[in-house]
Amino acid sequence: MRPILEVKGVSKSFGGVRALDKVSLSIEKGSIVGLIGPNGSGKTTLFNVISGFYPPDEGEVYFEGMRIDGMNPNEIFRLGLVRSFQNPRLFQTMSVWENVLVVPKQRGESPLLAPFRSRWEAEEMKIGKRGKGLIGVFGLNGSERKRASDLSGGQMKLLESLRGMMEGGKLFLLDEPAAGVAPRLANEIFGFIKRLREERGLTFFIIEHRLEILMNYVDYVYVLHNGRLLAEGGPEEVVKERKVIDAYIGD
Ligand SMILES: Nc1ncnc2c1ncn2[C@@H]1O[C@H](COP(=O)(O)OP(=O)(O)OP(=O)(O)O)[C@@H](O)[C@H]1O
Ligand SMILES: [Mg+2]
Repeated sequence: MRPILEVKGVSKSFGGVRALDKVSLSIEKGSIVGLIGPNGSGKTTLFNVISGFYPPDEGEVYFEGMRIDGMNPNEIFRLGLVRSFQNPRLFQTMSVWENVLVVPKQRGESPLLAPFRSRWEAEEMKIGKRGKGLIGVFGLNGSERKRASDLSGGQMKLLESLRGMMEGGKLFLLDEPAAGVAPRLANEIFGFIKRLREERGLTFFIIEHRLEILMNYVDYVYVLHNGRLLAEGGPEEVVKERKVIDAYIGD
């Protein structure tokens, strides 16, 4: 079967900085894959290129076999490739529940479909049920009526990912989902990710600095260093490689 994501020979420079240098990698559907590397190694830039925020200078990106480099972020998002940000983008003054519901395109609001009330009513019920289910999976039960701004940093990150799932996302690029979060919550976040993979067959590509946590959850790891792919493999083996240790120590 074809991988859900393929990156082929992608390069990206900013002025004189070669942030990505001919990076190639692939992600299997239903896997949890880590992306690690010292600060400034190009991880976030790679996510920005994959999700359409930056066009690559060279190379190609395929999602479910479809070429997506050159598409804009919205088009890519609609295909089911969802990217989270280092700082969650939520509607701060809305409740958790409203944040969950506001994302899917509400058909009832379209002037063309509004007259067909029964059709969109059924759809809204479906969206509501899905939202409830996901809130449970994410451990946000009981927080539905809280303002998004009153959540902890970790809960905000969960809520942001949950919004992506409501949109029917298939592949999730998570940029440090557990940054600044206590170890217990960090493990809970990764526990949810694992559960979503198992229950829904979703795929995750995750940047994480805290290797001791990440390594317990990923099937495979890519290591970037100075914009190049330095190593790849199973988590246990990769962290033992001399060149990977040197890259981290050298940093
Ligand atoms: N928009 C930009 N304009 C100019 N330079 C940029 C831009 N984005 C990234 N860079 C540069 O590209 C290189 C890679 O940065 P990137 O943010 O991708 O690294 P990273 O691996 O995500 O680092 P960190 O672990 O600190 O988040 C760095 O030298 C950075 O300064
Ligand atoms: Mg980064």
